[in-house]
Amino acid sequence: MNLTKTPHKKQPIGVFDSGIGGLTVANAINRYLPNEEIIYFGDTAHLPYGDKSADAIRYYCLKIVKFLLERDCKMIVIACNSASSAAYDTLVDFFPGEAIFVNVVDPLVTGVIEKSYKKIGIIATKATIRSDVYQRKLREQQSNLEVAALETPLLVPMIEEGYFDNNISQVIIENYLSNEQFKGIEALLLACTHYPLIRSDIEDYLGKAVDVLDSTLFTVRDIENKLRKRDLLNDHKEKDHQFYVSDFTQSFEETTRLFYNEHLQLDHYSIW
Ligand code: DGL
Repeated sequence: MNLTKTPHKKQPIGVFDSGIGGLTVANAINRYLPNEEIIYFGDTAHLPYGDKSADAIRYYCLKIVKFLLERDCKMIVIACNSASSAAYDTLVDFFPGEAIFVNVVDPLVTGVIEKSYKKIGIIATKATIRSDVYQRKLREQQSNLEVAALETPLLVPMIEEGYFDNNISQVIIENYLSNEQFKGIEALLLACTHYPLIRSDIEDYLGKAVDVLDSTLFTVRDIENKLRKRDLLNDHKEKDHQFYVSDFTQSFEETTRLFYNEHLQLDHYSIW
């Protein structure tokens, strides 16, 4: 992608999600690229995206990206699989050359292809699975890869309520993962930015024979490569990260602790 504006290192990275799940990605950026400044936007007024139509998700994403570009972001990270699946192509077309766009689907697809599996499973929201984006991108790059994809809509509310590493989460996870179509998988993709929080539940259920992969580190690698290639990696962070939500409640702020290692303050910003 050619940028029409000339970006500079000091500009922030815009990161957004339907809510607070994308904080898993922001947390990893903060950890592995500590000189970068982040502006995070969680669209808590419209959460969950996983149950919305692709058109509705695209509309929300356009507004959010406009907000982040107005704040001078050099890069926009779509830290949500549902939004990446529905809106990535639209956003790149709609804001040509205005920033570098990163989604969470392509980095994970690349990571999977590098492993040459024969059969994998994917779990994600309804929006992500029904978009067929993972299945299509994986097939395009490895036509003999067998892909079993399952919608797992109970997992996001379960995680947001703090139900993981306990007997309730184990029952729900077992119910989903015992699905016949997952027989013989060598890897399971956690294709939702909430799911890294239940990685250990899932690993316990699947055992060592199945690799459990999520987008987080693959996405940070992609962000770093794209910034390095353009000499846009910041060498010194001057401002604090900023975290905005489109609807504020105390419980959203409390739940951020599950997703982000440091205490953070959410600011309410209505873009609707
Ligand atoms: N974090 C979103 C994703 O990665 C799921 C949450 C939602 O449904 O809004 O798909």
